[in-house]
Amino acid sequence: MKKINLAIVGATGMVGRTLIKVLEEKDLPIENLYLFASSRSAGKTITFKGKEYVVEELTENSFDRGIDIALFSAGGSTSLKFAPIAASKGCVVVDNSSAWRMNPDVPLVVPEVNPEDVKLHKGIIANPNCSTIQAVVALKPLDEYYNIKRIIYSTYQAVSGAGMGGWQDLEEGIKGNPPKKFPHPIFNNCLPHIDVFTENGYTKEEIKMIEETRKILHRQDLKITATTVRVPVFNSHSESINVEFEKPFDLEELKEVLRKAPGVIVQDDPENNVYPLAANATGHDEVFVGRIRRDESVENGVNLWVVADNIRKGAASNAVQIAEILIKDMQ
Ligand code: A2P
Repeated sequence: MKKINLAIVGATGMVGRTLIKVLEEKDLPIENLYLFASSRSAGKTITFKGKEYVVEELTENSFDRGIDIALFSAGGSTSLKFAPIAASKGCVVVDNSSAWRMNPDVPLVVPEVNPEDVKLHKGIIANPNCSTIQAVVALKPLDEYYNIKRIIYSTYQAVSGAGMGGWQDLEEGIKGNPPKKFPHPIFNNCLPHIDVFTENGYTKEEIKMIEETRKILHRQDLKITATTVRVPVFNSHSESINVEFEKPFDLEELKEVLRKAPGVIVQDDPENNVYPLAANATGHDEVFVGRIRRDESVENGVNLWVVADNIRKGAASNAVQIAEILIKDMQ
């Protein structure tokens, strides 16, 4: 098997560190690993599979050494500037920021949903938003069977989704200290505000969920609305998803469709208090689905409770899965 040179950009961040962990668990044929971050972290060391690697400052020359794949998670402005530089040097970028996701030349990929789109890349592939990834893993099989008409998303998102700064705000907030990352204390609170507000009153996070769902499912016609909320949970996002279908469905059959779906684990036994929980999802790559019940206010509607580790499946693991597809195609 051909070995590849792999880079992680943003290696010291919340997602970057998890990327390293996920790569340690898997057996990708890596020849050389390069770790990049800002000048603040240059010289720090990070251990990968028992070997120490020195973090380098990301510069315009960082990709001048035959890097095959670079996993970027260093924010939108870093991706906007450096992803095209990397791509121009023959490196395929898997970008975790929102910078490239809606670009028509950039595939937006969740391997359980639209792996075939990887082939369409021109040097950059985007990893979707964490809340979108877990939603579409559950929705894709339902769309195939019953043809989705409308989706209502309501999210309960963990602070890890806001990076190290978000995590620290909750840790410090518990001790009574004021927030630095969020506009209000997150401890003992729910903030209906993720990313910036846009002109129509939606936040950018809400717009991302709407637009990215349409792009990944190849369903530009889908009616979708979303309310995204930051809650005082360290890790794993929970989502209430209300779905309306074109076709009628049998509830037991729908549960069976979800049980058979790739990457989905159904946890739905309310009589025994069994349903997906953020604390249990952390550390896993699957998307957990439960509270599956008919929405009796419409003809063909269902309610779902969907939970996943937002740093693993919502970011790092999804990017590594995309890298695995790329590596397979390089053989
Ligand atoms: P650093 O640790 O040197 O600041 P998080 O979202 O968890 O805060 O992580 C952001 C990641 O992106 C970190 O690894 C951070 O590195 C990296 N990063 C931020 N700005 C830049 C930049 N201008 N160039 C390269 N890496 C950056």
